[in-house]
Amino acid sequence: MKARLALPIVVALILTGIGVLLAQDELCPAGLPERPALSRHIEQADILDGSLSFDEVLEHGEELFTVLFNVCDGQGRPATTGGLAARKADEMAFSRVSAPDSNSCFSCHNQPRVGGGAEFVGNVFLLAQHEDPILETTSMMSSNHRNPLGMFGAGPIEMLAREMTSDLQALRETALEKAKAQNTAVTIELVTKGVRFGELTVAADGAQDSSGIEGVDHDLVIKPFHQAGTKISLRQFSANAMNQHHGMQAEERFDLNPDIMDPDYDQDGVERELTIGDITAVTLFQAALATPGRLLPEDPDRRAEAIRGELIFEQINCTSCHVPELPLESRFFSDPNPFNPSNTMTDMSQIVSFDMTADGPEPRLERQGDGAIVRAFTDLKRHSLCDPLEQADAIRFFCNETLRDSRPDVDGRHGSEFFITRKLWDAGSSAPYGHRGDLTTVSEAILMHGGEGRASRDAFTELPFSDQRAVVEFLLSLQVAPETDS
Ligand code: HEC
Ligand code: HEC
Repeated sequence: MKARLALPIVVALILTGIGVLLAQDELCPAGLPERPALSRHIEQADILDGSLSFDEVLEHGEELFTVLFNVCDGQGRPATTGGLAARKADEMAFSRVSAPDSNSCFSCHNQPRVGGGAEFVGNVFLLAQHEDPILETTSMMSSNHRNPLGMFGAGPIEMLAREMTSDLQALRETALEKAKAQNTAVTIELVTKGVRFGELTVAADGAQDSSGIEGVDHDLVIKPFHQAGTKISLRQFSANAMNQHHGMQAEERFDLNPDIMDPDYDQDGVERELTIGDITAVTLFQAALATPGRLLPEDPDRRAEAIRGELIFEQINCTSCHVPELPLESRFFSDPNPFNPSNTMTDMSQIVSFDMTADGPEPRLERQGDGAIVRAFTDLKRHSLCDPLEQADAIRFFCNETLRDSRPDVDGRHGSEFFITRKLWDAGSSAPYGHRGDLTTVSEAILMHGGEGRASRDAFTELPFSDQRAVVEFLLSLQVAPETDS
């Protein structure tokens, strides 16, 4: 209680520019039991030189993911929005809509255990964080409602996207060279790992016609995170989430960012809230989480159905988007991601990596040769499951969003109707379904596929009932396996 009462003093001290450390002491004086919830911070140098073992780094990452941040840690951002902008006058420390909206990552990522997704109550009101404060409405005109996804298997997913991005960008480079050498326009198919992202035409003078690109931004960077496919890496996502949900600032984004260079940008009296080493730890913790897999039912009839269901899933072309497996050339996860945006650490002299097929919690990624195989049932491409408006019937659940992302080159007819093919490797553990989490069963989710998924969905409804049951039994067998005691 005393710590709370000290708040106005803190603000006064900051306004008059007197010692920030003094303010932090006022907030959480040494004699009182309230201390920062996080037991310690770690430095990147200690990860790089091996002073900290891989397991110690993962443990710290888990602590960062599960701890209930408090004001002594630097929780809250009285002066700033969940983006980088200054915040309008607002008395509220928390807002369930505009955020800070929760006390830990775990609050929304807990199903079936730490690192997973959550049920409807964990939903986020996306974009509202830029409009601080939205205190009175959850209207779809003010935010896009999204249900949490789980991060099991997220390391392999980030690496798949990275290899695919390298392929697409190399194809573009080759086309540019060819067009220049032959002094003529060149059109290329953008295909990587068997997934086609449309085509690109480049003129002899290097001008690019990007109108034929499909399912990826025109920069050809696959952004596998966020259901609309907008975030490149776990590191980028984690720094965003720490700021948006908890008002915890990563020093790489604020204190050390040449565009900001302010150690207490959010004016809460705490500096260096999250070190570069902390963000590496929370990134590696997520990247190393167990890989989802297949848990067949014990009942022999259901088991047979689940196995048969996989074949039917392929026959009705669900696999055209939910690609059963994609190969990874390298089995190593490494951070930072070279395609990170400028406000996220990209210093390649600070690379930390681990073998996803040999390190971290089990079950792990499946090794194949020097690389690995990712059975995530996605193509990491954006699709529209919306029928043209004039034909649209009740299938609105996947087509409910009215707000658009501000990026200029996002495809889309109206609203943000384009979403990355949902990974299905955890479908049996990830209820509720759909990007808003408003579908309670897998069967409902299948029936909501219109647009690019319409033919496949109609083929499903035309199947004999026993075959439909087999497809659903198959999807429910894809799960995050229970934790093993090792
Ligand atoms: C209030 C709930 C909430 C909290 C707290 C929260 N998240 Fe999330 N998280 C979500 C939602 C909702 C999504 C899906 C967003 C979307 O697709 O638009 C998500 C998605 C993610 C993803 C991308 C997963 C994918 O496959 O696309 C990552 C990574 C992530 N969160 C990390 C974190 C971290 C790290 C923290 C803590 C710093 C955190 N989240 C805190 C709700 C939350
Ligand atoms: C054109 C590409 C495409 C095809 C074909 C397709 N899907 Fe999907 N699927 C998606 C996308 C995109 C989503 C994410 C929808 C959203 O939440 O906005 C999705 C979501 C789902 C979900 C919800 C999963 C979750 O956790 O929320 C299930 C289940 C599913 N698909 C099953 C199927 C089945 C079964 C078929 C074949 C009948 C199929 N899909 C065909 C693209 C496709």
